Formats: sequence, structure tokens, C-alpha cells
Amino acid sequence: VAVEPFDLVVFGGTGDLAHRKLFPSLFLRDRDGQLSEPSRIVGVSRSKLDRKQFRAEVKTALETYVSKTDLDKAAVSRFLDRLHFIMVDATGEAGWDDLAKLIADGLDKVRAFYLATSPDLFDDITHGLSKHNLLTPKTRVVLEKPLGRDLASAREINEAVADVLPESQIYRIDHYLGKETVQNLMALRFANVLFEPVWDSAHVDHVQITVAEKVGVEGRAGYYDKSGALRDMVQNHMLQLLCLVAMEPPSAMEADALRDEKLKVLRALKPIDDSNIRSLTVRGQYRSGAIDGKSAPAYRDELGGEESTIETFVALKAEVQTWRWAGVPFYLRTGKRLPSRVSEIVIQFREVPLSIFGAAGGFLAPNRLVIRLQPDEGVKLYLMIKDPGPGGLRFREVPLNLSFAETFKGPNPDAYERLLMDVIRGNQALFMRRDEVEAAWIWADPILESWSRLGRVPDPYTAGTWGPSAAVALIERDGRTWHEDPA
Ligand code: BG6
Repeated sequence: VAVEPFDLVVFGGTGDLAHRKLFPSLFLRDRDGQLSEPSRIVGVSRSKLDRKQFRAEVKTALETYVSKTDLDKAAVSRFLDRLHFIMVDATGEAGWDDLAKLIADGLDKVRAFYLATSPDLFDDITHGLSKHNLLTPKTRVVLEKPLGRDLASAREINEAVADVLPESQIYRIDHYLGKETVQNLMALRFANVLFEPVWDSAHVDHVQITVAEKVGVEGRAGYYDKSGALRDMVQNHMLQLLCLVAMEPPSAMEADALRDEKLKVLRALKPIDDSNIRSLTVRGQYRSGAIDGKSAPAYRDELGGEESTIETFVALKAEVQTWRWAGVPFYLRTGKRLPSRVSEIVIQFREVPLSIFGAAGGFLAPNRLVIRLQPDEGVKLYLMIKDPGPGGLRFREVPLNLSFAETFKGPNPDAYERLLMDVIRGNQALFMRRDEVEAAWIWADPILESWSRLGRVPDPYTAGTWGPSAAVALIERDGRTWHEDPA
């Protein structure tokens, strides 16, 4: 369904995110007929470009990041026609009037400002928008991560933006929420009757959330070395996943109902501090190694040889202190330069209370639900099945396997396609509310502080392995193991 006409202004319009994700996603939605006339897209940045040069840049970006089969010529030319460019100095006066003039005739349209810039500029940009009378009742402002590097800086950003806009017009992106399979997590839980009755500590032994990447820091060392894996992945993406697994059913699929439930989970996270940090967290940093038979440099070498105590890997054991989840560990791990790219959530159920099959039946592996977020999106439910044949009752663990690629032949849209259209539609459900972001920092800050206070430097791990051995010990100490898909 086409969304209503809009003007979308992208600050950071010549940047990497705009080129890699925003313009390709907008293009694909346009190609599928979802953008109605007269919608405009305005790139804004400090660079001195004219409209023609900007269009040429975006055309190159589309050719680079959109697959050839999707690059319909007529659609590309229609999309490029929508593009405008204005040079604006976010911290000064230059350009704002030109921007105002360009979109002055769009007062009745949805007006979205996408801040794909460093968060240092969020204050200046939002105040610039206000000062130049660019904020209308149909304005939405989208904030890209990182939303601060700790609670204090996140609050500063939130306050600066709240100064000029109500919360209902602020869209904080966590692109994991736009992933098809992440939304499917809610479908799985709340559109089926099977899971909810066993979704609790009486039936679930523990939960694992893994977001593993093969890539290193990919030319983002400047940003990454000030952040590290806990800030970059855990505080946002992984906690959001944890929330969707652990939250109570919202009363409706409505933005605030959903966000209220996620907030309760964040507030119920057991604090990690000096008293338990050693047993609950693992920090790692990759040394040189090999991935897929190709040598991979050490993190330090990607920084240009500098020493660094920033973590590129985190494993931790979290607990959600609610009646539903009391005593159920949530093991989280994420890292760069791991052996494969895989994001998955594993719900490990408890053993059957008693085996009636005796020793001959062998070990009855407890049921396991594996939700694969990427790649090879799908859901596997591991069940015990009788081994076929006359040899008596022997059991084998076999998955019921739902592969999205096999079941749904269509394309799998990028998270940004969905999220950008939700901004235009005015649907905040998949965006983080202020109190959520702050609650996540309230939990994450003491971990960061404790690491630094106790001088906890990252344990080394070889690129192409599953992180430091301490990450294995973290879960094995509890008599459990990280899930490894036999397939
Ligand atoms: C980003 C992080 O938010 O998410 C990156 O800053 C990370 O470091 C990326 O690589 C992972 O996203 P995806 O969609 O590739 O899993």
C-alpha cells in the first residue's frame, strides 16, 4: 500500500549509511510503488555538491548496493528525479534558509528529518530545525544510533531533542527491530497458542542469544574504538532481542503497549557490578587469525598498530528478575571476526520430568527452539523422535525445520525498508522510546564502569574462533553449552 506523500530530509546525506542503506531502501520501496507523488528526498550535508552531482553519487550508490536484477532503469530514473541536495552547516547558519525554501510548499505533507550524522550534531540539528521554523505537526525526526555512549550522554541527547519535539514525533532507530525475523518472533509468540504456556521458568532451562559477525571493524575504527561491543551491540540490538523474548504479551500491537512491556524487562534486568562482574561477563579482543581460510588481521592492526583495551567480543549471563523468568539465565554473546555470521535465539527447554524408556532409550535431549535471525532465516524446533527400524525404542533428536527461503519465495526486505515506511506512516512500534534507551544504559553503565574500575582488559581470541575460552567457560560452568547447529 502506498504511503502518503512526504518530504524526507536526510542529514548526513552523503555519508556511508545513506549510501549503503537509506537510499537503496527508499529506491526499492519506490520501485514497488510505495512512494506516492509528490514525494521528495533531500540530501543534506556540509559537502559542496550540486543537485546533479548528488544524483550521480546516489546513482553510483544504487549500482553498488542494490542487486542488478532490482535496478529497473525507469524506476532508477524516477527515483533520481525525487532527489534534491542542499548544503547546510548544521552548527552554523549557512543553508538553512535554502532548505526551508525548498520544502516550503510541502506543509501539508509528512515531513521527516533523518539524522544520519554523528550524535554530536543532534542537538544543533534539531534546534536548527526549530529555529528555522521547519517543524510542522506532521514532522518526524529519526535518530540513528549511537544514542549516547552512557546514560549521561543519552540523556543529554534525549533532552536536547525533547526541547523542540514531543516524544510522539521522535523515532529512535534500532535496525534489528526492522528485521523480518525479529518481527516474526512476536508472531511466533503471540499468533500461536503452543508456545506461550511453556514460555517461563517452569519449562525453559535457559535462553541463548548470539549475534556473531565475520567482519572486523570495516573502516569504522574511529567510532568503534570509542565504543566496543557492549555499547555497539549489547546495549541496543541484543537487549531489544532479549526484551522481545522475555516481555509479557502487550495488550495490543500498539507502539506504547509494546514499549511498556519491553521497558519492564529492561528494568527487571539483574544489575551487574563489581560484586558479580567476573563471573557474569567476558570481554575479548581479536588477535590475527584466519576466517574461511583467509588470514585476518588483529584488531590492533586494524587500528593502525595502536594498543587498545576496547572489546570486540562480549559474552554475558543476564537475568530477568520477574516471576516468569526468575532463575532462568539469558546467555548473550556477540563479537567480530568470529567463524561465521549468524544471529540466533535459542530457547532451551527443560528435560522431561522422567524417562519411561529406561536406559535402553538413551539420553532424551530436552526440546530446543532455535530462531535463526540471519542468514538462512527460519525456525527449528528440535524434538525427540524414535529412530526408525526394528531395533527397539531408540531416540534421536530431529528438527522440525521451517526455512523462510523455502517457504516464502519472495524477497526478504532490508530492515531499513520497513522502518523508513513506518516513519512515514507514523508507526512508532518498532522504534525505541526514550525511557527504554535510558533503562538500557542504566543496566549497561555499571558493567562498563566496573570493567574500567577493575582494569578488566579484554582476553585475546584468535580471529576465526568463537571468542576467548572464558566465553565457553561462562556457560559450561553452569553445565550448559553454546548451541551449535548440527546442520
Ligand atoms: C550495527 C553495528 O548497529 O550493527 C555494527 O554498529 C554491526 O558494528 C551491525 O556490524 C550489524 O548489523 P547486521 O544487520 O549486519 O546484523
